[in-house]
Order: sequence, then structure tokens, then C-alpha cells
Amino acid sequence: MFDGFNGTIFAYGQTSSGKTFTMEGVVSDDRLKGIIPRMMDCVFEKIQQAPANMEFVIKCSMVEIYMERIQDLLDPRKNNLQVKGGAIQDCTEQYISAKKEMEEAMKLGSKNRQVAATGMNDKSSRSHSLFILSIIKKDKNDDSTKTGTLRLILGRLYLVDLAGSESVQKTGCVGVQFDEAKTINKSLSALGNVIKMLTESSTHIPYRDSKLTRILEESLGGNSLTVLIITCSMSSFNAAETLSTLRFGNRAKKIKNKPVANMERSSKKLMQLLSEAEERIKRQVAAFGYINKRLVVLKDTEFKSLLSEIHEIYKMIKDNNAQGLYNLLKNGYTEELKETSECKEEQNIRVVSNEKLDKENNYLKQKLTQSTEKLLKLSIELADSKKSLEILKDEKIDLEAELKVKNNEISELNDRLKLLKVKSKVEANNNLKALAQVELKLENLSFLYNQKNKAIEQVCKALDRILFDEQLTNINSSAVIL
Ligand SMILES: Nc1ncnc2c1ncn2[C@@H]1O[C@H](COP(=O)(O)OP(=O)(O)OP(=O)(O)O)[C@@H](O)[C@H]1O
Ligand SMILES: [Mg+2]
Repeated sequence: MFDGFNGTIFAYGQTSSGKTFTMEGVVSDDRLKGIIPRMMDCVFEKIQQAPANMEFVIKCSMVEIYMERIQDLLDPRKNNLQVKGGAIQDCTEQYISAKKEMEEAMKLGSKNRQVAATGMNDKSSRSHSLFILSIIKKDKNDDSTKTGTLRLILGRLYLVDLAGSESVQKTGCVGVQFDEAKTINKSLSALGNVIKMLTESSTHIPYRDSKLTRILEESLGGNSLTVLIITCSMSSFNAAETLSTLRFGNRAKKIKNKPVANMERSSKKLMQLLSEAEERIKRQVAAFGYINKRLVVLKDTEFKSLLSEIHEIYKMIKDNNAQGLYNLLKNGYTEELKETSECKEEQNIRVVSNEKLDKENNYLKQKLTQSTEKLLKLSIELADSKKSLEILKDEKIDLEAELKVKNNEISELNDRLKLLKVKSKVEANNNLKALAQVELKLENLSFLYNQKNKAIEQVCKALDRILFDEQLTNINSSAVIL
């Protein structure tokens, strides 16, 4: 993983044979802890030993496949995740900075997992569980990020605890558990089919038959270092299941994966490598052409002189020219004797040059295979990049559609806003008119009020006068009485 390879470890076996025990074990016990906690120890030990210039980003996810639905175990609200291009979409990826955090994530995931009691195991896993760890390694001193060459090294590890294959009669399950067992056995047989087709080098591999095989596509015959652990029951009661498990393991062993270190390179760097490889191939092809030409010329001259000699001899035999034949052979013999020493010398020279040519040839062949391998690697990387480009394109289309919908919504809202503005203008005009009327009424009222006031004042004055007169009359009358 630290060198950029993908890895997969998965446990397969009959129910209750120890898959979960192998993968998880007793986390708190150093002797009994399983592969996942041991992997955590190993990862953090490696990070601690790494030079200071190395930077790591660790992410982990945990999902289960239950009844062909992918459930996020770190966020139970996400209960129907989809697989696209071998990757689980929208899956929670928890960033990890310490071993404790990873242990907590594993505990949470295990707690959220579907388990139920079967007749063989009271904690039987009814789902396939996948613990996915991604490590991104970055060299802080490597300025290639700035120059646009090498960027990151990414390694991904899948740790898979499969649901147990089970004989429904032996486990004695009914109802929901019976349906679960049927789905589990179906997805395990899809896994078995994929493995069978891979070992038979079939052109069509049925990865799409189950969610499990779609996720593990790269782990089975693809870009991954894969380890399959098979767990068997030691009881003779389970002999048939043990045999079928062993057969499964044996078949899976024949699959040849093609692991390649994931180095995320920029397209600029890929183009540069490709043109370099093409240049090298061109040079090698030219060199081969030159050697071939030399060999053809050599054969051609030898062949021509031999042919003319044969023609001469044939003519002499036909003409019954015994003397000429004798002379020719004698000359030829003496000449041959003369030539023998020259030939030997030439032969020696040729041996030396042949050796040289052989060496050159071997060197070129070696270079050619190296270049072809590199080209192959590059084309795989290019295919990967194309794949992710396709995914990005899909996403772009989705986003564009979403944008269209949003734009429509915005224009609808704008229309409504305009309508509301027009309405509010009309309302404001109406209000102004009403206000003017109210003001007019108010003016009238205040005018009336003033008039009334004046009238009241006059009445008051009259009253005052009357009162005054009355008092005067009272005073007069009391004076009269006195
Ligand atoms: N090597 C072992 N040492 C001690 N106990 C073990 C070992 N392997 C399994 N067990 C015990 O056997 C029981 C069943 O094991 P486990 O739950 O791992 O089975 P499984 O294969 O995951 O079953 P299923 O497919 O039903 O989930 C558990 O109680 C477990 O502790
Ligand atoms: Mg289990």
C-alpha cells in the first residue's frame, strides 16, 4: 500500500467457521486480535518509521452489503449506496489521524452490522462487510507537484468479511433469515461464477451479477494484490461444506492479477513518457532494419555467385566439356585453397562481428521488451485516466442537468418577483389614492372640528353670560330680602 499498490484480503467459508474471528478477532487481546486491528498497528508503525518529509492522508470507510443493498456502517442513514465504476458512491470516508480513531470507526461499524442467531452461530454475520482503507502518500520535498510531473501515491486496501455460505437445512433458519440466506448464497455463487470464468479465461466476466463482485472487480483479476483466506469447520458434520470451500479456494488460486503501483501522474507527464517510449521504439526498429538489410545483402551476393557457378558447370556437363570442367574444378580447388585461409580470417572477423551483432541484438530486444512493458503500463494508466474522465463526464452531465433545473427555478422565481413588483406598485398607487382620500377626509373633519369648537366656545361664552346673569339676579334678590 505504501508503494501505491491496491490490496484485498477476504475471508470465505461456511457459516460459523471463523471469518469474522479472523478479520476482527478480539481487538483488546494482542494474541487474539484479527487482521483488521493488526493492519492498523502495521500502518501506524510504518507511518512513524517514515522520513519526516513524507506526508500521509488516511481515510477509512466501512460498508455492508445486506440483501443486495449497500449500507454505510459509519453513517446508518445512508442505506442504499450505489456502485459506479467499481467505486461506492457517497460512502462516508472518515479522515484518520490516530490509531484510536480507526479503532473507534471499526467498533462503530461492527456495532451497526446486521447479525442474527442461526442454528450454528449466535452472532452470525448476515451481510458482507467491507473495511476500506485509503492511504495517500506525498513527498513534501518533491517539487514535481509544482513542475506538473509526479504527484501522489495512492494505495487502497479492502478487508472483506463475507457472510457465511450456509446449508439452510443445517442452520434451520426460517422467515426473514431464510430470505437472507438465499440472497447470501446467491451473491456468493455470483462470486464463485466470476472466479470460475476468470480461471477459464472467458471473454465475459459476470462482475455485474452482484454488488459484491462489482465492488471487488479490481480485486479479482485486476489491479490488486489479493489474498483469499478460507476458513473451514473441523467437524465431520460439515465435511461437504469444507470440501466445497476448499474447491473454491483452489479455483481462486489460479487467477492471475495484474497489480500496478498507482502513481497519479499529470497528463503532461503521461504524454512526455509516451513520446519518449515512441522515440525509443522508432530507434530500435531502425536498428533492426539496418541489421536485416546487411544480412539480406550478404545472402544475396553469395547466392548469386553460387548460382552463376552452377549454371557454368551445368552448361559444361551439357556440352560434354570434360576439359573445361576439369580446369574449372582445378582452378576452383586451388582458388578454394587460396580462399580457405582468407575465408578463415574472414570467418574469424565474422564471428567477432556476429558476437557483436548478437550482443547488440540482445540489448535491443531487451530494450524493446522494456519499452513494450512500459507502453503497456502507460496504456493501462491512460485507460484508468479515461475511466475517471468518463466518470467525471457523467458527473458533469448530472451537474449540468441539475444546473438547468436550478436555472429554470431561478427564472420562475424572477418571473414571480416581477409579478410581485408590478402588484406591489399597483397596490402602492391604490394606497396613495386611499391616503389622499383619507387626508381629504381628515381635512374636512378638522374643518368640522374647528367649526364645532368655535360653536362650543360660543355656547360656553353664552353659558358663562347666563351664569353671570343668574348670579347677579341672585345677589339682587338677596339684597331685596335683606
Ligand atoms: N480460531 C478461533 N479460536 C477461537 N474461537 C474461534 C476461532 N474461530 C472462530 N471462533 C469462534 O467461533 C464462533 C464463530 O466464529 P465467527 O463468528 O468468526 O464465524 P463466521 O465464519 O464469521 O460465521 P458467519 O458466517 O455466520 O458470520 C465465534 O464465537 C468465534 O469466537
Ligand atoms: Mg461472521
